[in-house]
Amino acid sequence: MQRIAIYPGSFDPVTNGHLDIAKRGLKLFDRIIVAILHNPGKKSLFTVEERLEMLAESMMGIDNVEFDTFDGLLVDYAHRCKASAILRGMRAVSDFEYEFQLALMNRKLNREVETVFLMTGLRWIFTSSSIIKEAARFGGDISDMVPPGVNRRIQAKFGF
Ligand code: PNS
Repeated sequence: MQRIAIYPGSFDPVTNGHLDIAKRGLKLFDRIIVAILHNPGKKSLFTVEERLEMLAESMMGIDNVEFDTFDGLLVDYAHRCKASAILRGMRAVSDFEYEFQLALMNRKLNREVETVFLMTGLRWIFTSSSIIKEAARFGGDISDMVPPGVNRRIQAKFGF
């Protein structure tokens, strides 16, 4: 039986930290489905379509990774995909409380789906999509924190 994990998130946009988690997750799972939450209520820099394109570009050549979007409850989506786990990256202590709540709520909603955390690589410990967007908006160099294609798209969005 294949071990499938969902790696969910906003991915607005995907960062090198996300890529690191997905690649390392493949040591634990046979297949990883990177899934973007389709949440029209949340303001995002990139459309879901743009985010999907960036994910696919950035992970091109990595086997056993798929990309998708979902709405509604994550555990229901995981169930539909026959996934046994949700994969999440954990950075500093500040991530812990939110991740803990999310994992416990998901476990309450469906006890068949486990959440697996990987510690973010030390290099990416302070990397987040939001902080990267903030730096890039004011002309900061973020080229070593995101894949090259993502860097180009961010520069274009902010008119650099
Ligand atoms: O990258 P993010 O924004 O931290 O990802 C959050 C995400 C997408 C994992 C989370 O918001 C989510 O799973 N949303 C779907 C609705 C859901 O199932 N929420 C958890 C139980 S209320």
